[in-house]
Amino acid sequence: MEHFGYHLDEALMPKHVAIIMDGNGRWAKKRKRPRLFGHRTALKTVHDTVAFASDLGIEVLTLYAFSTENWKRSDEEVSGLMNLILEFIDKQLEEMTQNNVRLRILGDKSRLPGKVVEAVDRAIARTEANNGLNLNIALNYGGRDELIRAIKCMMDDGCNPETITEETVSAHLYTAGQPDPDLIIRTSGEKRISNFLLWQCAYSEFIFDDVLWPDFDNETFTRLLAEYQKRDRRYGGAK
Ligand code: IPE
Ligand code: IPE
Ligand code: MG
Repeated sequence: MEHFGYHLDEALMPKHVAIIMDGNGRWAKKRKRPRLFGHRTALKTVHDTVAFASDLGIEVLTLYAFSTENWKRSDEEVSGLMNLILEFIDKQLEEMTQNNVRLRILGDKSRLPGKVVEAVDRAIARTEANNGLNLNIALNYGGRDELIRAIKCMMDDGCNPETITEETVSAHLYTAGQPDPDLIIRTSGEKRISNFLLWQCAYSEFIFDDVLWPDFDNETFTRLLAEYQKRDRRYGGAK
């Protein structure tokens, strides 16, 4: 298929794309506006990206919205972000239901404000039977936190250490049952993983692009998908 002058091969489409949505603060700063203005503008980008991923037939889209380290930010920014997340989930619920999107949250919900947990639980329940795009929102997510939780769960389940395999570990992560990300995109030019999907990224392709998240659009997404499709994935093998 052709989009914005790029050719995308349907057979080479990534099953799972994960995005570190970074650069909202710098986008706002360039405009001499408060950081939260950048976060607010980012909601439209999230909306359009979810719709486009769904149109492209991507199976899983994971969006990193709030990390276990983001609590270090000012109270104003943290509560502003929580309110925007709440607003997004409530506003998008109808559209997600109509577009057959199934929502999952990756992360520790216990530290989130009660109203966010309620909105999220409502949206998860409402979209549970959908079988289109699986949308994962990483919220109070940390890769190390996820692994500690998995280890605790395995011990609680009485897993026999002798029989623990990679599949056992994968099955105890927030992404249980989903394929590992084929492609991880990070916007804003930063080249680090920032505690995202540490186990799942073992063989992901990485693209670090300079675009700031509020400027990311379907054309940018297409360009990065076309770049991904040119990669030679060897998984340690040789030809
Ligand atoms: C990403 O944008 C959004 C979150 C981390 C919640 P930032 O807020 O990190 O933007 P920069 O990196 O300061 O530009
Ligand atoms: C990573 O971005 C987290 C999210 C996008 C939610 P940060 O902006 O928090 O990461 P660092 O601090 O630059 O590593
Ligand atoms: Mg950042």
